[in-house]
Amino acid sequence: MANEPDIAPGVDRSVPSVARIYDYMLGGNYNFPADRAVADRAMAQVPELRDIILANRGFHGRAARWIAERGISQFLDIGSGLPTAGNTHDTVRAVVPDARVAYVDNDPMVAAYGDQLLSSPQHTRVIIADVRDPDRLLGDPQLLGLLDFSRPMGLLITGVLHFVADSSDPWGLMARYVGALAPGSYVAVSHSTYDNVPPRSVQVGQEEYANASEQMHFRSRDEVHRFFTGLEIEPPYEGAGPVLAFMGEWHAEDLAAADSDGSRWGYCAVGRKP
Ligand SMILES: C[S@@+](CC[C@H](N)C(=O)[O-])C[C@H]1O[C@@H](n2cnc3c(N)ncnc32)[C@H](O)[C@@H]1O
Repeated sequence: MANEPDIAPGVDRSVPSVARIYDYMLGGNYNFPADRAVADRAMAQVPELRDIILANRGFHGRAARWIAERGISQFLDIGSGLPTAGNTHDTVRAVVPDARVAYVDNDPMVAAYGDQLLSSPQHTRVIIADVRDPDRLLGDPQLLGLLDFSRPMGLLITGVLHFVADSSDPWGLMARYVGALAPGSYVAVSHSTYDNVPPRSVQVGQEEYANASEQMHFRSRDEVHRFFTGLEIEPPYEGAGPVLAFMGEWHAEDLAAADSDGSRWGYCAVGRKP
């Protein structure tokens, strides 16, 4: 198709990519027929799928902005995805004009097209690394050249940990990332759940991603809560305690309207490292 991006090194257009599927569902152009086929089949069976994606992306943006409003001026966005509307650096620079953002993803499309995230190269970097390899990721010279781990930062890991199997110990990985942060840092996580969803819809999600670049691992509220070990969870909206929220609810403008079927597919929270 005319609007398809050229093939970049390392990109296999025949294997559906979770980054490109997400891009397609957000209305982007960084995707191929194999990605669109998975997304279209899944959307036909789970009509609220686009709402799920928008609820997650909405949380990502609101959380990034909220963290910037706490005076944080450096961000590590792991599993950042392809350039899209509301990129993290645009969102946080609306609050902190010289904020620095390191984008990290393991998808070669992000390497190929991430330069579109570098509107201000001295303040942004795109790093290709795997969240399952914290030594490599946290030791990346480009990352260390941009972010100062002795000062508080915002760590954003939204819509990513459900692509990490239990066998890779996502809780141990989170402990590594949280451990690397200075006190006063904030951590935003969103994660898909099977808790409130018809089992058939969960099965569709698992089956459609079975042959994609990464597979889906839905988790319970307790399992998602454990990602915040060592962090103080911030109330997700006025009057709430330190609890997980559904994605749409988190600091929603209209809490009742935000409580959609799609929103309930994922838990989220922002935690502060004491
Ligand atoms: C659903 S998208 C979420 C994008 C963005 N964080 C958001 O919430 O809007 C998931 C992203 O995580 C990335 N990802 C999945 N597994 C990863 C891994 N093991 N290491 C790094 N990135 C990963 C994918 O390539 C994709 O870009």
